[in-house]
Amino acid sequence: MHAPSAILAFVLGLAATATAHRQHLSARDLASHAAISKRCAAKAGEFTLARKKRSLAKRSSIIPRDTSVNITIESPHYSTIQNDTCVLVPDVTAGPYVWPRSETLRQDMREGQAGVLLYLDIGVLDVNTCEPVPNVLVDMWHCNATGSYSSFDALSPNIPFQQLLEMLNKTIGPNLDLHTGDSTFLRGMWPTDSNGVMEMATIFPGFYVERTIHIHVQAHTDWMVRGNGTVVSSNIVSTGQLFFDEALSEQVMALEPYASHTQIERTTNDVDSIYAGETVTGWSPVVQVEALDGVDVANGMMGYITLGVNLTATSSQGAKLDHR
Ligand SMILES: *[C@@H]1O[C@H](CO)[C@@H](O)[C@H](O)[C@H]1NC(C)=O
Ligand SMILES: *[C@@H]1O[C@H](CO)[C@@H](O)[C@H](O)[C@H]1NC(C)=O
Ligand SMILES: *[C@@H]1O[C@H](CO)[C@@H](O)[C@H](O)[C@H]1NC(C)=O
Ligand SMILES: *[C@@H]1O[C@H](CO)[C@@H](O)[C@H](O)[C@H]1NC(C)=O
Ligand SMILES: *[C@@H]1O[C@H](CO)[C@@H](O)[C@H](O)[C@H]1NC(C)=O
Ligand SMILES: *[C@@H]1O[C@H](CO)[C@@H](O)[C@H](O)[C@H]1NC(C)=O
Repeated sequence: MHAPSAILAFVLGLAATATAHRQHLSARDLASHAAISKRCAAKAGEFTLARKKRSLAKRSSIIPRDTSVNITIESPHYSTIQNDTCVLVPDVTAGPYVWPRSETLRQDMREGQAGVLLYLDIGVLDVNTCEPVPNVLVDMWHCNATGSYSSFDALSPNIPFQQLLEMLNKTIGPNLDLHTGDSTFLRGMWPTDSNGVMEMATIFPGFYVERTIHIHVQAHTDWMVRGNGTVVSSNIVSTGQLFFDEALSEQVMALEPYASHTQIERTTNDVDSIYAGETVTGWSPVVQVEALDGVDVANGMMGYITLGVNLTATSSQGAKLDHR
């Protein structure tokens, strides 16, 4: 079942949203995270650069053969090492749309959802050693081009959350369950390889009410595939959200089917509560993006991000069990 405490974490996140627009991290935590980020910065930069070279060399194993775009990216595009590290901690909100039962072990989680192709290249770095970590299960979920999450399809992406709760006669608490079905689109998970890297094919996310464009990510250690094909994991070493550059989001949102989502105004990074919380120590949870054809992101893009995880600080906030 899903972790009640993940929902509890969401509740805390919501409280932060309603009040100070900040995560509840102490000054000591913030200073410590900033120090980690700085310490691993050079290693993180080298890591990203190595991945760019590698993904170019093998043309990314997950890029489908039937792509209508010829990939001409020439890495590295950057003349300097990109050393932003995204250090994520176990207590960043997982949100109300976390739904482990619908997470699926695969490297292409699109399921035919319309939108701009996005390949994510995610590197996982241990913040204690600044070294890549193999065999970490990276679990992702995000909304579709018009703001809906799978398994929550029947909920309107345009109704403010409090209002939605009232309409559903629900109250925030550890057993909050808003799911409306069992669809699985745009939910996927895959382990990091021997180089500490995993790749996932998806679409650029759309947006829903009160939130900037984001992708939820959790990293798990101690996971295994059971006989019946479900995945069990006992440790969450990181829960976070990934974001995109505003200019990029603006460009993509002008394209269909994103552009047809006109019922609400899009919330931008600068006013998003979670974004503010994740960037406050100077980490960069913003995905570095390149156009697959080297010209136009509308033809698809490759996104790179490094997650810093603390393998010895596993979340006590409940294990996620019974992934499909
Ligand atoms: C990160 O990269 C920038 C630009 O390449 C460089 O000026 C800075 O010193 C680097 N920071 C660390 C901590 O390595
Ligand atoms: C991709 O390249 C191949 C071989 O050069 C060419 O036949 C094909 O038309 C190109 N496709 C696109 C969409 O440009
Ligand atoms: C997003 O998902 C919802 C719910 O399943 C669906 O109604 C909507 O058509 C989807 N959006 C797009 C662009 O396919
Ligand atoms: C709302 O839920 C509460 C608690 O389950 C219940 O007592 C109440 O009758 C419900 N109200 C409506 C309008 O459904
Ligand atoms: C898979 O096996 C586990 C352990 O036996 C069980 O708890 C779970 O309900 C099963 N899931 C499915 C979908 O069969
Ligand atoms: C990782 O977590 C452990 C246990 O909470 C802590 O002692 C250690 O300092 C953390 N490592 C870093 C680099 O913060």
